[in-house]
Parts: sequence; C-alpha cells; structure tokens
Amino acid sequence: MTELGWIIVALVLFISCAAGRTEAHYGWTTLDWLSAHNASHELHNVTTADGYQLQLQRLPQPGARAVLLVHGLLGSSLGWVCLGPARSLAFQLHQLQYDVWLANLRGAYPYGRQHTELTDVMDAFWSFSFHEHGAYDLPAIIDHMAEVTGGEQQSGEADKEEPTRQVLLIGHSQAFNAFLVLCSLHPRFNQRIQLMQALAPLSRLHRQVRFDAAHVRSLMKFVKKRQKSSKLELFPPGYLRKLCQIKHEQCEYYAKQYAGSAKSNKRLLEAFNYEYLLQGGSAREIKHLQQIWKSGDFIAYDYGPMQNMKIYNGVEALRYNLSQISVPTILYFGETDAIATPEGVHAIYARMLNSVRSVKRIESPKFNHFDFLIAGEVRTLVNDKLIELMEKFLEGKLSYIIE
Ligand SMILES: *[C@@H]1O[C@H](CO)[C@@H](O)[C@H](O)[C@H]1NC(C)=O
Ligand SMILES: *[C@@H]1O[C@H](CO)[C@@H](O)[C@H](O)[C@H]1NC(C)=O
Ligand SMILES: *[C@@H]1O[C@H](CO)[C@@H](O)[C@H](O)[C@H]1NC(C)=O
Repeated sequence: MTELGWIIVALVLFISCAAGRTEAHYGWTTLDWLSAHNASHELHNVTTADGYQLQLQRLPQPGARAVLLVHGLLGSSLGWVCLGPARSLAFQLHQLQYDVWLANLRGAYPYGRQHTELTDVMDAFWSFSFHEHGAYDLPAIIDHMAEVTGGEQQSGEADKEEPTRQVLLIGHSQAFNAFLVLCSLHPRFNQRIQLMQALAPLSRLHRQVRFDAAHVRSLMKFVKKRQKSSKLELFPPGYLRKLCQIKHEQCEYYAKQYAGSAKSNKRLLEAFNYEYLLQGGSAREIKHLQQIWKSGDFIAYDYGPMQNMKIYNGVEALRYNLSQISVPTILYFGETDAIATPEGVHAIYARMLNSVRSVKRIESPKFNHFDFLIAGEVRTLVNDKLIELMEKFLEGKLSYIIE
C-alpha cells in the first residue's frame, strides 16, 4: 500500500474510534458519568409536599459553599455533566471546591419519576408545569440541602431556628420561571438564596421568542395529539433521537433553531443524540408557556374561568407577584437564542430592576438555547464567566454591567 493509503487508513480508524468513543456516552445517565470519572458522589432522595420523590446527586464538599444546579424544560441533571470533567459545569465547580448539588425536578428521567401514590403512566403524574417545580420541588430540595449541610456544619449544636444557610443557584431556561414561582409564593427563600445565575432565562415570551406563529401552532397540535392519546409525557427518553434518525431534515431544521454555536454545524445535532438529555416534559409545561406567551404576563396556569375561580378565587389566573423577589440575580443571554432572545432577557431585566445585578451576553456571535449545555466551547464561553462573576459577587466586587 502507498504511504498515502496508510495515512488514509489510519485517519479513518482514528476518526471512527473517536466517533465510537463519543457515541458510547450518548446512552449515559448522570450516574454513569459520575461513576465513569470516579467522581465521589452522594444520592439524596427528597419527597415533595405533594408526594413526588426526587433524586438529587451531590458532589460533596462538606462545609464549602453550596451550589445548586437546576435544569430547564426537557432537561435533567445530565445537562450539567454530559460533556465530562473537562467541560461540564458540575465537575468544574467541584474541582474548585464548591459543594455541588444537582437537582432533578419532577418529570426528569430517571430521577424525577417516583411518587408515593402515582406512577409515571398516570395522567395525574403529568399534571404539572414550572409552577409545581417552583411551588413544591425547589422548596423540598433547598430545605433538604440546608438540613444536610446544616448538620455537617454545627455537629451537635442544637439550633432549631429556620436554617439560614445560603445556596448559590444556577439555572438554565425554564428553571428561572421555577425560581420566580419559588420566591414569589414562598418569600422565605429570598433570604435563603444568596445569588441566582440564570442562563437563557425564560418568563418574558411575549413578542420575544424567535419562532413564528406557524411553529407554535404545529407544536401545540403535537401537544394536543399526545394529550388526546393520553401520552402526557412529551418526549420519552430516546424519542427525539429516533425521530432524528427517521426525519433527518426536520431534525436538522430544529437543531438550527435551538442550537448551533460553532462556525461549523458539526455539533448541531449533538443534543438530539443523547438518549436522556432532551426528554420528559409534560404537555402542561408547554401549555403554560404558551399561556404566558399569549398573555404577555407572568401568570400561573390558566385552568379556565370555572376552575380558576376554585383555585385562585377569581376568573383569571393568578399573577405571580414579582416584587416579592429580592434575590440578587445575574442574567446571561446568547445572541442568537431563539427562545430566550436578547430582547426577552432585557425585558426581564426591565421588570426586575431591584434584583438584577448584571446582564451578560455570551461572547460569541452565535449562541443559542441548547448551546448553554452542549456547545464545545461552553467552558470558556459560559462556565468560566459564570464562576468569575459568582466569585466577584461573593467578594462584593461585582460590577453593575448591563450588556
Ligand atoms: C476510575 O477507577 C478505576 C478503578 O480504580 C480505574 O480503572 C479507572 O481508570 C478510573 N477512571 C478514571 C477516569 O479516573
Ligand atoms: C433513593 O430511592 C431509590 C429509588 O427509589 C432507592 O433505590 C435508594 O436506595 C434511595 N436512596 C436513599 C439514600 O434513600
Ligand atoms: C406584591 O408584593 C409586594 C412586596 O411584598 C407587596 O407590597 C404588594 O402588596 C404585593 N402585591 C400584591 C398584588 O399582592
């Protein structure tokens, strides 16, 4: 064989090995990632006031500052580990000696699928949106963290006061909505959360999302179809991956809508390859986001006038009282984000002048919604910045910069 021939064979072998190695990761869960990298971790079970049993993962650093990472719509704790120790935020924070906690909200597979009475094939299991994430899941999780870390801190000291231990919160996308619900419905958490860092936050969707009415209609048609056939889980694990194998072009179209930071489109479809990354989600989550999108206000789920009367004591859905929120907040946006657009994020800022301490643009001409989780450059573009600003904030040196 000619020398060129050998080079080509070697290259092909190298490329297929590299590809093979990556693909093996696509089927991994959060625990697979933690185990594969020998990351010391703990599992914590938390039961919410309405019976959901959530599993949290912790990369423990007893006595250190506690950081809670909260996933968004169609997410789970996997999003914070799935690029491995070199690039994923959970590993990075742990290397920096933070006490890292990974939330799994109800609906996330496989860690948010248990309930004391329901199973995840029942309609009642899926009757939730970000409202329940904020009203029930986050309080249970943060209280549990305080209980555990408080016990580690003061070993034996009898202090039955309301725990004051503070948590640093980092959330992607819809996690911001859950945070707003948490702090407006349960104001005591305003004192418990030291800082909220919101990546690609939603909540102001009116005239701000970058997709057109036809797309929303087709999405709602899909949601309705699933609701009708009592498939209330929007995307079961692996659903999008299979769909992408069959309808490659449609998939590429959506990938372009919601991801794609690099100059090449090589990583575009990456998020869809993960069996467990974009999964779960209830039809009601989408419906609630649509209601916000239509109403232009941050409202609780609209059940219709009759039910609203029973639940909210009025024909209209409850408006969350955002002036309750006093947690210092940093907002991050990507230039080309189709869901949390720069305009949308600035509108959140305008609405929350009292708590927003900084608004940061990700320094890349192309940065979209799911790039916050899977972009090759996520470490330098997002994680390093986020850690830098968090540390500045903790030292009292965060500058008020609105980008
Ligand atoms: C994890 O530990 C096992 C057993 O000690 C070892 O074989 C493996 O190389 C380690 N993996 C990493 C990524 O450190
Ligand atoms: C948490 O729940 C899982 C599944 O229900 C169970 O296997 C595990 O033992 C529990 N862990 C703890 C620490 O209670
Ligand atoms: C919203 O919360 C603020 C601050 O606690 C309070 O002053 C105001 O009365 C509340 N508004 C409503 C409509 O409840």
